[in-house]
Amino acid sequence: MLSPTQRVPLIGKPNPTLTLTLAGVLALVVFVIDTFGHLATAIMVLYVIVVMLAATVLSRRGTLAVAAGCIVLTIIAYVFGHTEGPSYSAIGRCVLACVAIATTTYLTLRLQANTVRLEAQVHELDAAHEALHRSMTELAHATRVTMLGELAASIAHEVSQPIAAIVTNGDATLRWLRRDTPEIGEACEIVEAMIRDARRASDIIRRIRALAQKREPAFVPIDINAVVSEAMDLVNREVHQYGAHVDLELAHGPLIVRGDRVQLQQVVINLLINGLQAMTSIKDRPRVLAVRTYTDDRGRVIIAVQDSGVGVTPENAAKLFHAFYTTKADGMGMGLSICRSIVEAHDGMIDCVASAQPGARMEITLPLLSETLITP
Ligand SMILES: Nc1ncnc2c1ncn2[C@@H]1O[C@H](COP(=O)(O)OP(=O)(O)OP(=O)(O)O)[C@@H](O)[C@H]1O
Ligand SMILES: [Mg+2]
Repeated sequence: MLSPTQRVPLIGKPNPTLTLTLAGVLALVVFVIDTFGHLATAIMVLYVIVVMLAATVLSRRGTLAVAAGCIVLTIIAYVFGHTEGPSYSAIGRCVLACVAIATTTYLTLRLQANTVRLEAQVHELDAAHEALHRSMTELAHATRVTMLGELAASIAHEVSQPIAAIVTNGDATLRWLRRDTPEIGEACEIVEAMIRDARRASDIIRRIRALAQKREPAFVPIDINAVVSEAMDLVNREVHQYGAHVDLELAHGPLIVRGDRVQLQQVVINLLINGLQAMTSIKDRPRVLAVRTYTDDRGRVIIAVQDSGVGVTPENAAKLFHAFYTTKADGMGMGLSICRSIVEAHDGMIDCVASAQPGARMEITLPLLSETLITP
């Protein structure tokens, strides 16, 4: 509710000093003309403008005080202007002006109260929106951590493989160096390979740490091809475990979008895992996960993940993205619902689209940031 001291600007953000000066000057002019002008008009009705001006910068209490002041000025002007005796027409004009001032004040204060209520509702909506955004970030993080748990085997393999290679190469280097005539050239080559392996392992750890971290999304220009490649690295092992193989075709050249790398990676990984899971029961055809990135004829970036799994019936296609919709015994049904929230926060779309081949085809469409139009 409106507090008596609350100031409510009705139109934009008026300058209080200027508005009050204007109101004061207008009140003075009306008072002088009303008192000394001897005009047979209800000029004091113009006090309503003074009240309305004051209401734009003053609180409810201040507006009431100005209105009361205007009524007092109207009465004083009448008393000073009619010392020779009462004039019924002047009294009528005086009463009319007082009624006009009172009515305007009442309506203005109601408008003020409604504005405050509206502002409070906008504020509540903002707070609700903010809370929704926070829960969405937290939910995305929680499911990302769950997803990382599911990928533990792949991740361990991705990290331990280069480390094992470093150990093997370290042994070989020592052998080259311990020879009577050390093979410096060979040793250097192997050390370079060790450095590459170490970088690979540390890159993977960095990516996993980024996925596990809880933080606000950061929207920056990123290359979708890099996002997809890095996501592929993390599910590599999973692909082998599911007896599937990947057919990856990335657009030639970068596809730059404005987005959060970690969140978009989460979306791609979710689609890849869903695709793999949909192919577990397939025995009569190859289990293929076809992943493509390209731009469509409208210059938008497309990431398509097509599997050769059980597919999606048209009636289920709409339900896939609903929270908690799952057909899996151990599924949460949150993967695709989170994917949709993330993609929509990137001004994009995600859909299960019809395809001539057996299986499901999921497509993410994102706005391209630069004019790097590349065809598949
Ligand atoms: N590629 C696909 N092929 C066939 N069905 C799919 C595919 N992707 C998703 N679905 C269907 O959509 C449902 C919802 O998928 P979603 O990823 O949201 O949840 P989930 O995989 O069941 O569980 P989780 O929350 O652990 O990911 C799945 O249970 C499955 O029935
Ligand atoms: Mg899923």
